[in-house]
Amino acid sequence: MSFNDKIKTKGYLDIDLPVNMDFKSEIQKLKKEKNAIILGHYYQTEDIQDISDILGDSLALAQEAAKTNADLIVFAGVHFMAETAKLVNPGKKVVLPDLNAGCSLADSAPAKDFEAFVNAHPDHKVITYINSSTEVKALTDICVTSSNAVQIVESFPKDEKLIFAPDKNLGSYINKLTGRNMLLWDGACHVHKEFSIPRLLELKHENPDALIIAHPECQSDLLIMADHIGSTSSLLKFTQTNSNDSYIVATESGILHQMRKASPNKTFLPAPPEDSTCACNDCKFMKLNTLRKIYLAMKYEVPEIIIEEELRKKANRPIQNMLELSRQLGL
Ligand code: 13P
Ligand code: SF4
Repeated sequence: MSFNDKIKTKGYLDIDLPVNMDFKSEIQKLKKEKNAIILGHYYQTEDIQDISDILGDSLALAQEAAKTNADLIVFAGVHFMAETAKLVNPGKKVVLPDLNAGCSLADSAPAKDFEAFVNAHPDHKVITYINSSTEVKALTDICVTSSNAVQIVESFPKDEKLIFAPDKNLGSYINKLTGRNMLLWDGACHVHKEFSIPRLLELKHENPDALIIAHPECQSDLLIMADHIGSTSSLLKFTQTNSNDSYIVATESGILHQMRKASPNKTFLPAPPEDSTCACNDCKFMKLNTLRKIYLAMKYEVPEIIIEEELRKKANRPIQNMLELSRQLGL
């Protein structure tokens, strides 16, 4: 079976490798040999975070992708992030170690349905969270991430009619904060909607001094309990600059690694999901990447992200609009 056939079947390359292979050192060698860069999201497993050249939230990674001089971009994250890297780098090779690393939030806005929604509201500007497919981005005026969404929405005139998609929780949070009445697409992330309010209250009762910090993809009944709300990098920064000793963290569990590294004397408790038997605050897509898959992706430069050029141009426009406005806003 050819590499391409294997990838079509499994979504990633899986071939026999020497037992006890030291993936970390092999990856370091390949980085030099190929002038490659690993862009890693905070939700990756700890070992992947530790070998990433740039570790960041969605905005930081999109900004790094736009300015890298590397010839090969290895995206340790999910599909929409690797696609964004390709949108801004048509001439570079972008690989995603496992094509199955999707996003339940991006999937909650199928392009055909979203197109009908946009066409039904021709007088609205379209703001789309970066957690969306390339086809949805192509229908968009400007993209946002959780790090710049509020400021970008605020950059529109107060009376401008706006659509916000696909995350309803983030959209409601911004509507509340800015007094806007954006039309919201009804999408959500499977990780952030799973947190249990009763179990969170119990945890807070047991740890009354712990501050609750939350990602704005969480539901509004959780966000009203939060002492700080922000993107993954904003949550991390808060734990570094705030003087409290303990935090209950309501977002994907991967970010706790950086929080513990930056503040080893503080206590970080993951917010509990509804189902106490599952690891529901792990993103099942983010956690598909492994050092082995990253090694194989770098070595054989597959699976590669390919985007048809006409579509790429359309979807790149709202990303460039976001990058430019973020630059002007100093974000
Ligand atoms: P940020 O990286 O913007 O914090 O978003 C979190 C997320 O859900 C990425 O998938
Ligand atoms: Fe998508 Fe949620 Fe996973 Fe982020 S955590 S990649 S929004 S499914």
